[in-house]
Amino acid sequence: MLLTSIGRALPAFLLFTGALGTPVEQRQASVDTFITSQRAVSIEGVLANIGADGSKAQGAAAGIVVASPSRSNPDYWYTWTRDSALTYKALVERFIAGDTTLRKKLDEYVSSQTYLQTVSNPSGGPDTGGLGEPKFNVDRTAFTGAWGRPQRDGPPLRATALTLYANWLIANGNTTQAANTLWPIIAKDLAYAVKYWNQTGFDLWEEVNGSSFFTLAATHRALAEGAALATKLSKTCDGCATAAPQILCFLQGFWTGSYIDSNINVNDGRTGKDVNSIISSIHTLDPASACTSTTFQPCSSRALLNHKAVTDSFRTVYGVNNGIPQGKAVAVGRYSEDVYYNGNPWYLATLAAAEQLYAAVYQWNTIGSITVDSVSLPFFKDLLPSITTGTYASGSATFKSIVSAVTTYGDGYVAVVQKYTPANGGLAEQFDKSSGSPLSAVDLTWSYAAFLTATDRRAGTVGPTWGEKSNNVPPTTCTAPPSCNVQVTFNERATTTFGENVFIVGQLTQLGNWDPNSAIPLSASKYTSSDPLWYATVSLPSSTSFAYKYIRKTSSGTVVWESDPNRSYTTSSGCGSTSTQNDTWR
Ligand SMILES: *[C@@H]1O[C@H](CO)[C@@H](O)[C@H](O)[C@H]1NC(C)=O
Ligand SMILES: *[C@@H]1O[C@H](CO)[C@@H](O)[C@H](O)[C@H]1NC(C)=O
Ligand SMILES: *[C@@H]1O[C@H](CO)[C@@H](O)[C@H](O)[C@H]1NC(C)=O
Ligand SMILES: *[C@@H]1O[C@H](CO)[C@@H](O)[C@H](O)[C@H]1NC(C)=O
Ligand SMILES: *[C@@H]1O[C@H](CO)[C@@H](O)[C@H](O)[C@H]1NC(C)=O
Repeated sequence: MLLTSIGRALPAFLLFTGALGTPVEQRQASVDTFITSQRAVSIEGVLANIGADGSKAQGAAAGIVVASPSRSNPDYWYTWTRDSALTYKALVERFIAGDTTLRKKLDEYVSSQTYLQTVSNPSGGPDTGGLGEPKFNVDRTAFTGAWGRPQRDGPPLRATALTLYANWLIANGNTTQAANTLWPIIAKDLAYAVKYWNQTGFDLWEEVNGSSFFTLAATHRALAEGAALATKLSKTCDGCATAAPQILCFLQGFWTGSYIDSNINVNDGRTGKDVNSIISSIHTLDPASACTSTTFQPCSSRALLNHKAVTDSFRTVYGVNNGIPQGKAVAVGRYSEDVYYNGNPWYLATLAAAEQLYAAVYQWNTIGSITVDSVSLPFFKDLLPSITTGTYASGSATFKSIVSAVTTYGDGYVAVVQKYTPANGGLAEQFDKSSGSPLSAVDLTWSYAAFLTATDRRAGTVGPTWGEKSNNVPPTTCTAPPSCNVQVTFNERATTTFGENVFIVGQLTQLGNWDPNSAIPLSASKYTSSDPLWYATVSLPSSTSFAYKYIRKTSSGTVVWESDPNRSYTTSSGCGSTSTQNDTWR
């Protein structure tokens, strides 16, 4: 069975009383009632935002997830690879759990992504970095405006959503569809991840160009399960099995000792306490895992202390959280220094805080014990002040008290969402930090998906294992992949007049991404009237195909482009090799 569903032994309200001694029945009953109605609204909300037939996605292509129907203030009428993959991961889990009506939607997603992977865009072509493009227009054309790009979480997240589906297909007699239709997409996403994991990119909030914990945690999971899927399908996944442990090694460096620093290799002036890290833990939940700290499993000591650090960081910054003590649920945002829309709580962030707690309870119930150690003790003390370190077996009173308190704490986060959800159940992106009114994009697909996954975990419904148990031991020393560059000398014969200069510009970052202001200047040091040679030697990534052109800039600054078509070049595979390309101005 791919999907595990264990009910809690008894309904929580029969077993427990709240931490302050108040009967839980009433509160529990109202959260339960809210969850039932809000789950119905949430699945409808997700499906309404998916083309071609979603009621709020009219004009979007089949299988395309619109981030929100909001077309101004803010304009989210685009499809993000990340949001779509996380949404589809939730839909695949739901499909596996028995909602067979979703099959057509899943296959439409597969088709839409097969196509999107071929669309050249400002991040590159299909094999030259284009998979790192964060968002596309809803008709599947490239979005060409300025943006925080690349974002390297999209490919591994999509690979994970599709790997879940592929494994189900294999287990249900359709290995052909898994091998011929899904694997080609997954393989391209994994190849992207293998090639780029050790380069910086923008984080999931599209603001910081560095190393994002979420991106790397998602990449580790995708490569680990991708390597296993490749073996199952008798395919190869070049570099997957080698990169995964190195990424796990790198991930250890994000742990500060008391929380996860969500963005490193960048000077962002923030503490790094960011719901990025909580979303990472819930995304990489493995139902078969022990509470492993190296993979920051929801029930791991590190992830629990991190939950406290991140949620505590919001207690004093939002008016709606005034007076709520530690250990009681608060409204959670992205990170406390956030200024987007003036910085507010987000529904999906508050739900992620609940989801980690429910996932931890699931894991403890599965394992049959809870270990409280010196790292996790502060988290537990907020809920049960007299608790001490130790391992508590499932039959013990302490085990029951912890499960009760953590479940109640999780319900508290859902109750915060309930309090700030309008009567029709519409989930926007944010709610105002002072008034609690919904803010920013309406009907955010990811908000609805977050409601579904958090409440699935509460019900004991989780996805299948991704192999965490055999992928949780980091090597003792971390090795970055050899940066494999080649030196290419571009010779361009171009007769110029005094004051004119020649540049090369093209599809790669190293060639200015087609921006004449970032073009690479050529040297005229060997220029003669009989051999008007302009040249430059550029370091470029190996085995990479790209388009380029030469431009000349006149003394007045006017840019003159060579005539069409674009030129193209493919670098050699040999690290450190040198080659020469001879061109003549046209
Ligand atoms: C496998 O899936 C494809 C595409 O959905 C379908 O056409 C085919 O009938 C399926 N085969 C089996 C054996 O289920
Ligand atoms: C590349 O990997 C090395 C080794 O883990 C690490 O020290 C470095 O910060 C990484 N750089 C990026 C940009 O990921
Ligand atoms: C972000 O970092 C990557 C390199 O790691 C670079 O290619 C890209 O141009 C950077 N983006 C911006 C907008 O600075
Ligand atoms: C050359 O490449 C640029 C950037 O991708 C593109 O906008 C343009 O249409 C291409 N020109 C031709 C003739 O294909
Ligand atoms: C480029 O031109 C030089 C002479 O300027 C010649 O030696 C070389 O072989 C040429 N390279 C290629 C790849 O055509």
